Amino acid sequence: MSAQSAQSSFTNTLMPQPSKLTAEPGGFILKPSFTVAAPQFRDGRLDAAIGRTLHRLEYETGIPVAKDIHKDPAGASLIIEVKGAGEVIQSVDEDESYSLHVTANGAKLQANTVVGALRGMETLLQLVQPDHSTYFLPAVSIEDTPRFRWRGLMIDCGRHFEPVPVIKRTLDGMAAVKLNVFHWHLSEDQGFRIESKLYPKLAGMGSDGLYYTQEQAKEVVAYARERGIRVIPEFDMPGHSSAWFVGYPEISSGSGPYEIRREFGISDVAMDPTRDSTYKFLDGFVGEMSAIFPDPYFHIGGDETNGVQWKGNPRIVEFMQKHDLKDTAALQAYFNQRLLKILVKYHKHMIGWDEVLNPALPKDVVVQSWRGEASLAAGAKQGYQGILSAPYYLDGMKSAEQHYLADPLPANSDLTPEQRSLILGGEVCMWGEQLYERTIDSRIWPRTAAMAERFWSPENVRDVDDMYRRLNTVSIRLEVFGLTHLTQEDVGLRALTGSADIDAMRVFASILEPVSFGERYEGQHTSQLTPLNRLVDAVRPDPPSRYEVQVLVHALLENPSQHSDEKHQLEAAFSAWKAAAPKVQQRVTASPLLTEDAAARAQQFAQLAEIGSQALAYLAGASSAPTGWKQNSLTVLDNAKKPGGLVRFTVLGPLRDLVNAVQEK
Ligand code: ACM
Repeated sequence: MSAQSAQSSFTNTLMPQPSKLTAEPGGFILKPSFTVAAPQFRDGRLDAAIGRTLHRLEYETGIPVAKDIHKDPAGASLIIEVKGAGEVIQSVDEDESYSLHVTANGAKLQANTVVGALRGMETLLQLVQPDHSTYFLPAVSIEDTPRFRWRGLMIDCGRHFEPVPVIKRTLDGMAAVKLNVFHWHLSEDQGFRIESKLYPKLAGMGSDGLYYTQEQAKEVVAYARERGIRVIPEFDMPGHSSAWFVGYPEISSGSGPYEIRREFGISDVAMDPTRDSTYKFLDGFVGEMSAIFPDPYFHIGGDETNGVQWKGNPRIVEFMQKHDLKDTAALQAYFNQRLLKILVKYHKHMIGWDEVLNPALPKDVVVQSWRGEASLAAGAKQGYQGILSAPYYLDGMKSAEQHYLADPLPANSDLTPEQRSLILGGEVCMWGEQLYERTIDSRIWPRTAAMAERFWSPENVRDVDDMYRRLNTVSIRLEVFGLTHLTQEDVGLRALTGSADIDAMRVFASILEPVSFGERYEGQHTSQLTPLNRLVDAVRPDPPSRYEVQVLVHALLENPSQHSDEKHQLEAAFSAWKAAAPKVQQRVTASPLLTEDAAARAQQFAQLAEIGSQALAYLAGASSAPTGWKQNSLTVLDNAKKPGGLVRFTVLGPLRDLVNAVQEK
């Protein structure tokens, strides 16, 4: 008996896009009789992943699914053929490829490794679509393999601690969009975040009690491995290291005593590179951490060491002269050379930020570029492997579009094929100055899914419209893991207003986003002790309004007579703003937490609504704009663009375009 085929056609909501995909009409209808077989290789990791997939399938569709994994593929709805386990310790060269074929009779997933199968199962779950009264898997043939080997997300748990459940749900989200490296920034001036049994005063005195036990760290590493994600720990050295010195001033370049540094930015303190005892300490520490973090890469930070404490210590200055180290950069290279010996002893490769790039270091050091594409290319030209991070800083509060279009290896790169092969990939960076466990998800997601696609999918997958269309769906799917990127805005608005009636505030917040890290720092001077409970913390970067209003306005202006639908959508939006504005002003005035940030913004919100409505009416020709209307409106838009309240409006550009299109009498 042949299966009944689905009636609906395939809508591609996959993110990242597979390297090759063809779709046919119809597909496999999901029913409670759904069964899975894994007739070839099986292990605990594969079985657990299949179990999670079936639970998610059930959650996505409401169709009860049996969780047994059969050996016999005959009649199975989903056949998962895996050749082997893959690497015992997943390396940068792990085979992550898979193929997935769906017909009216069922789905077949094939992979060489369990990690490939994990990637394929995520694709399978993203394929699920409604078919009238049920769900189906569209008929597709997918052959998929990543473009870059290194697709990471760094989280800074030093400046603000992130509890284990936050890390775990982030790892789930990463796996869903096929990221494969969790770079765990574990030490900072503001906190030393992992237990050392050898040096208990590191976390004991340097963390305010907020640190991961070794058991918890191992649990995170295991959780990540189950999802095909490598964990690279970072211990920032020799700078960004105040928290080490609270308990162990003897490894610093000064005399102490030290405190946990509450201020952000670059501190003057650094480890003492001149004393053997420093390296003895680090040898013990790296050895201890190597037993927790099996990955062959070890991140030593290396950024922003300003050399002030070195230059202020006559003994260190004398050492530099004696060893012919002409400046503090040379002294840092000396430190890195000695540190590298320790890493090699524990079978680790060194990875560090841009500043580690120095001809004194061997070519197997990996450079993570935070200062720009140029330094990445410079490294590759000298033979160093590199990872691009500069365009992927989430705290810049840039749009998903801006991040998406930045390519680790752009088509016009002047690198030779050999140099190009040194670019391992990219890493999204989530620095921790201005976030904490409640707000981190909304900073990471969904923008990180767009970057995950950049790192995985073919270079020519660059259609921004299509990316946003899919991102909206992916964002909803990510909530299955308990990620709070969408819900936190409501939570924040309720907390700020002290009210459950936040409908009007939501409309207001929908066209606001946080200013960049730098602008917020200017406006608020955040430190580790600053409560992060303001309007800027509630709102999300690059909310859907930014792109949607822009698209509607541009379509309308391009051809007003053919875009009445867009016009109606804009009219509805401006009317909703107008209707919400009085309530917003009332709420803002009533809340001490909101008044300072939002009083001016709430007034501007009402003005923007008015300008939008008027512009549409004038463009429709019902009446003409009085002389001066345009100039007045542009002045309002200019004022709304000025810094204020640590938030900015997302819709000023398209509103300006609308105003400019109006003809005055
Ligand atoms: C960095 O942003 N200092 C790596």
